Amino acid sequence: MYQTLMFSIITMLLLSACNTKEPIPMDLNEKHLIPKPSKVEATGSSFEITAATTIFYEEGKDDVKGMAQFLADFLQPATGMALAVEATATKPAGGIYLHFSALEGTNETYTLELNENLIDISASGEAGLFYAIQTLRQLLPASIEATSKQDTMWLLPSGKIEDSPNYTYRGAMLDVSRHFFQVQDVKKFIDYISMYKMNKLHLHLSDDQGWRIEIKSWPKLTAIGGSTEVGGGEGGFYTQEEYKDIVAYAKKRQITIIPEIDMPGHTNAALAAYPELNCDNKARELYTGTKVGFSTFCTDKEVVYEFIDDVIRELAAMTTGEYIHIGGDESHVTPLEDYIPFINRVQKIVEKYGKKVIGWDEIAHAELLPNTLVQWWAKADNAKKGIAQGAKVLVSPATKVYLDMQYDSTTHLGLHWAAYIEVDSAYIWNPATMVDGIKRDDIIGVESPLWSETITNLDEIEYMMFPRIIGHAEIGWTEASQQNWEDYRLRLAHQKERMEILGIDFYKSPLVDWD
Ligand code: ACM
Repeated sequence: MYQTLMFSIITMLLLSACNTKEPIPMDLNEKHLIPKPSKVEATGSSFEITAATTIFYEEGKDDVKGMAQFLADFLQPATGMALAVEATATKPAGGIYLHFSALEGTNETYTLELNENLIDISASGEAGLFYAIQTLRQLLPASIEATSKQDTMWLLPSGKIEDSPNYTYRGAMLDVSRHFFQVQDVKKFIDYISMYKMNKLHLHLSDDQGWRIEIKSWPKLTAIGGSTEVGGGEGGFYTQEEYKDIVAYAKKRQITIIPEIDMPGHTNAALAAYPELNCDNKARELYTGTKVGFSTFCTDKEVVYEFIDDVIRELAAMTTGEYIHIGGDESHVTPLEDYIPFINRVQKIVEKYGKKVIGWDEIAHAELLPNTLVQWWAKADNAKKGIAQGAKVLVSPATKVYLDMQYDSTTHLGLHWAAYIEVDSAYIWNPATMVDGIKRDDIIGVESPLWSETITNLDEIEYMMFPRIIGHAEIGWTEASQQNWEDYRLRLAHQKERMEILGIDFYKSPLVDWD
């Protein structure tokens, strides 16, 4: 009896000694994070996520609880582990701990502190917690992106990361008008840009080739205007319920949807649906080509403003963000003396429904309301006209961030009217020094538009956005002084495995050593 007891005790001691594993040394600086964080201090050890790891959240904070659950849900497929999510009133000794703390910066600022026992995630707001989780994601092996259980150790290097974005507006645009994309594709697009800490998705919801958002008071917009697309395909549109679902999905990933109704030009789909929007009261033919600049609302008809009022009212009611985009680009058949009062009046309609205006750079010809943003895509002089009126600039130069521009002359998709944009060209530029007269303080941020004249499905979206969008995300997030092409191209190469596991069809630029 005594011998059996002694034997059991010795066996238990031996087993527990074996279970107390020495931490595995790891170097946080070798993690090749994108966007590059503000500050990284490596401490040479590691934390292992196991089935016993609990994700703790600060008691009484629903936002923190939501993020803790989001992390648990993210980790589950590849690890095969459903980690416990628990409230705590005090800092735990071990596990993953998410909490708020008053950090200097904005609600996007976060710190991530890892040692052998604890991953401590703090931020002043929900957004910061979300970005800490995106960083944590890149600290894990790329196989964390898999959708089925992977056999690996889930190790993260120890150390401390302090991080905060340079620009508050870091966005992408998807043109769902020239070709229509289903809700599930838009959600994928949201997943992709949120991985790299972008926070705005501008949806180009109307153009000559298609009207893509249900407006209940003007049902023919979608019934007729949404019925085709470039090339004559069947087109499509989002019901208001679907649009709200996209808005909610994006919000959970800290992304604000910016809806655009382009006007007074780029309006053929509406002009085909409602003859009264034309000066001659004749409905236009639906258009499935790719020319621009031929359509315009009849800017001196009252019914046009009644129409816009209804559209903006319904759109504003479904939009949680502060901005509505009114287009304003390439209105080549709208005389400037009609264009200016039109933009002036439409801004007031947007303001009436509690939203602020964004418009393409041409709108700077009008009298801008105090909070209107000018999106510089073509003419720096227009952006400067906006700045002279006190406006901030959203930087989207076609020569640098238009994702529909071809990489080089061999790219089988896209266009090249602005430039060929290789991966280095997309990265090596600074919004705040690109032209004289547009300075850091004039700029709210950066946005990368993907126009879809030649883009018909998610694979093609992925090929044109990846990997350039990753560089644009870094330009928006990371201080310009910390950006360096030689360093970036090494970090970018390390995104390859992650993109492959995610099933992203990306352009393997010869400028990057992917192996
Ligand atoms: C634009 O590319 N027409 C804004």
